[in-house]
Amino acid sequence: MTIGIDQIAFDTTTLFVDLRDLAQARGDEPDKYTIGIGQDQQAVVPSSQDIVTLGASAASRLTLDPARLGLIALGTESGVDASKAAALYVQRLLKLGPWVRAVELKEACYGGTAALMMARDYVAAHPDRQALVIAADVARYGLATPGEVTQGAGAVAMVVSAEPRLLALSDDSVHYAEDIQDFWRPVYTDRALARGKFSTEQYLRFFNLVWARYKATTGRGIADFKALCFHLPYTKMGLKALRQVLPEATPAQQAALSSAFTASAAYSRRVGNLYTGSLYLGLLSLLEHASDLAEGDRIGLFSYGSGAVGEFFSATLQPGFAAQLDAAGTLSRLDARRRLTVAEYESVFNDKVPYGPADYEADPALFAGRFVLTGVTGQERQYRANA
Ligand code: HMG
Repeated sequence: MTIGIDQIAFDTTTLFVDLRDLAQARGDEPDKYTIGIGQDQQAVVPSSQDIVTLGASAASRLTLDPARLGLIALGTESGVDASKAAALYVQRLLKLGPWVRAVELKEACYGGTAALMMARDYVAAHPDRQALVIAADVARYGLATPGEVTQGAGAVAMVVSAEPRLLALSDDSVHYAEDIQDFWRPVYTDRALARGKFSTEQYLRFFNLVWARYKATTGRGIADFKALCFHLPYTKMGLKALRQVLPEATPAQQAALSSAFTASAAYSRRVGNLYTGSLYLGLLSLLEHASDLAEGDRIGLFSYGSGAVGEFFSATLQPGFAAQLDAAGTLSRLDARRRLTVAEYESVFNDKVPYGPADYEADPALFAGRFVLTGVTGQERQYRANA
């Protein structure tokens, strides 16, 4: 039985800041952000948007069959509750029916991959059922911090089923875990702490480890891949990983893999880090930008979550896969976003749901998107569809 990704969709906020504006405000060279880091724009998140609203918006773009849906697995490291799964809010907002398992998975940027693998195993055990996988995050480091240029937000949602129409997941995952302290977020704050340089070294070390083991255990090599997709905390990070393996390819393959990488980085350049959704935004970007993909092409995927877990696996394109994509829709939503000044971005950044018991009302002037958090009343988050 073939199991894989039947549908995929993405959503982000309706606000962004241009990184040339940010560079100027921070006294940096714009080229550092656009070339050195490899980012052009960054999603800005009003307090009325979070992983629930973004995840529900992305999932609302899929065609779900409540009679077949058996699992909602939401990967995130920006959870809105230490106990309750955000998947339950999504279930209600999308009216998905009660006969499901609904859970939240956490391991930094790896949570979405954990959810995808859980969904694959679920469908293997229940071939008639569908699983909804959501990878949603808000990447926040703080104003004028080294990580600021690598912030971002959004969600990727996927339907996993038997006989998928988009991508078949191969049973070839190689995963590696080790307790390291490269990036983390204590529960009292919404801002991540990172040992920046160290984290980039660990990302590359984990990639080299799983790539070497993948080749040894599967007998496959770089020539077997049409494209490689990477977790993209910022696009230069993925480019550095790609450059590590390019010498294994012929000159013609090197050019093809580099061009595929550019296609996979296009959306990330405009949105920033989605943490656990970043790898899948890169995959969507590849599928919606590369013009030479064909049925049977194998795509390699490297997932990295700080802390840290790394995994390399592959998927192959299915017959008629292009009918499952909506490049024009994704692009038009990105193009329709409102560009904020740096002062406006800072003001939106600082208006946030407090880490405390006080009631809170989000600014209705910033309500946008399909779902909103209107506020917090009596320590309960209030979500609704956006009028
Ligand atoms: P930094 O110290 O500000 O930047 O931090 P830099 O000085 O290293 O410069 C960055 C690059 O810009 C360098 O290129 C410079 O040469 C270049 P590189 O040597 O890396 O190739 N540069 C220029 N290029 C062109 N024109 C110029 C110019 N000036 C400089 N004028 C850092 C960068 C990424 C460390 C920081 O932003 C940070 O801490 N980010 C957060 C951590 C992070 O993203 N780590 C990535 C790996 S860990 C991961 O992926 C997991 C994660 O997603 C979390 C999770 O799992 O949940 C983060």
